[in-house]
Amino acid sequence: MDALPDPRARLEAYARQNLPRYTSYPTAPHFGPMAEATYRGWLAAIQPGDTLSLYLHIPFCKELCWYCGCHTAITRSQARLSHYAAGLVRETGLLAAALPVRPPVVSLHLGGGTPSAIGARGLGEVMAALREAFAFRADAELSVELDPRTLEDDAVALLGRAGFNRASLGVQDMDEGVQRLIGRIQPREMVESAVTRLRGAGIQAINFDLMYGLPGQDTRHVAASARFAAEMGADRVAVFGYAHVPWMKPHQKAIAEDMLPDVLARMEQAEAAERALLEAGYVAIGLDHFARPEDPMAVASRAGVLRRNFQGYTTDRAPVLLGLGASAIGALPQGYAQNLPDERAWLAAVEGGHLPVARGLELTEDDRIRRAIIEAVMCDLQLDLQRVPALVWESAVPRLAPLLRDGLARLEDGRLLVTEAGRRFVRHVAACFDARLAAAAARHSAAV
Ligand SMILES: C[S@@+](CC[C@H](N)C(=O)[O-])C[C@H]1O[C@@H](n2cnc3c(N)ncnc32)[C@H](O)[C@@H]1O
Ligand code: SF4
Repeated sequence: MDALPDPRARLEAYARQNLPRYTSYPTAPHFGPMAEATYRGWLAAIQPGDTLSLYLHIPFCKELCWYCGCHTAITRSQARLSHYAAGLVRETGLLAAALPVRPPVVSLHLGGGTPSAIGARGLGEVMAALREAFAFRADAELSVELDPRTLEDDAVALLGRAGFNRASLGVQDMDEGVQRLIGRIQPREMVESAVTRLRGAGIQAINFDLMYGLPGQDTRHVAASARFAAEMGADRVAVFGYAHVPWMKPHQKAIAEDMLPDVLARMEQAEAAERALLEAGYVAIGLDHFARPEDPMAVASRAGVLRRNFQGYTTDRAPVLLGLGASAIGALPQGYAQNLPDERAWLAAVEGGHLPVARGLELTEDDRIRRAIIEAVMCDLQLDLQRVPALVWESAVPRLAPLLRDGLARLEDGRLLVTEAGRRFVRHVAACFDARLAAAAARHSAAV
């Protein structure tokens, strides 16, 4: 990037760049077709000492939020939801049968969409199948994404009984005007009630998802929503910048583009959220997370053992992550495996007794080296340069130079450090080590 006179203008120029979120390296657009036999080979190599994480994708919601960028479908059809739950039960059995051992599960995450859409009954069936097929460790983290607007009491009770101990609530922004502009109305009492009911059922750890960059939003809205999260005692708060990609998500055309904040306003909103959360006693983690100092994510961050996976930042350190459900992605020592994204195709595959894997990527030695570097940058905001082979470093240096010049990163005692000013630009630092970026640059949304 050419030198711009005003530091703020330089940051704006960085924020305009399109970069991946590095929830994996290589990132999902680089996956290619993958045969079931390859995946079966990877599963067969799982060792008795390996711990296991499970991710179940449940891609349904009752109504579509206009801003939504998730892989989800809108349905109220009970038959469709029951079929999906039955498909998950079937896939659980197929996966367990493909494993040579019964490794202990240390973490389970239900994501979506809104996983509770399959109802208490569907959730109960899926959990029973999982507990039968896998050995859950007593201290396993069981977490679920929930929508305060659709949280039924029977689902809360079921989740509590099933041993869930963490829930993430989609909150986004608490201002009614902003909520109207994104097609998602959820008054304060609704969120309060969700938190109280979840805690009452024994689900003690609560995460909030907030967003900035939404139509009609300004710094006051974002700061007020952040303070609300703190008042509700959220243990973790994720603050996501709205990714406006109507060419990929046509329903986002319902968003009034002329009401979207510009790049500078987005930066100010991200800063306002950060200020409010730091003032409320949270610690900043990586690119976009905040946690109470005693939360396991803050503890992992201090200890330098934070990880990053497809769900974002995580304390989960299991070497094997298996994905179940349409489009779910797993990460194994050999590489990544993604299920068929189409619900019907996924269902047909599992009903036919097939592991529904469709795409994936076998890691090369170069991928492994860069993956470790990129994960360290994204999670620890620092990199021990002894871990960086000379050739990789040489290719990164010219890309790092403007970031070093602009104070977003610095070199000190054999380490590359992302500065506080550079925290929100950590993807830019990570991207310096990405050997595959150029081809995919056009596909991502604004970086901040
Ligand atoms: C699967 S949803 C959370 C659970 C539930 N479906 C809900 O919305 O309450 C995951 C989160 O992704 C974030 N999100 C969704 N669409 C986004 C977008 N276009 N850009 C950035 N973040 C987005 C929101 O913060 C949302 O809460
Ligand atoms: S934001 Fe959540 S509730 Fe809204 S459509 Fe997306 S996944 Fe569904």
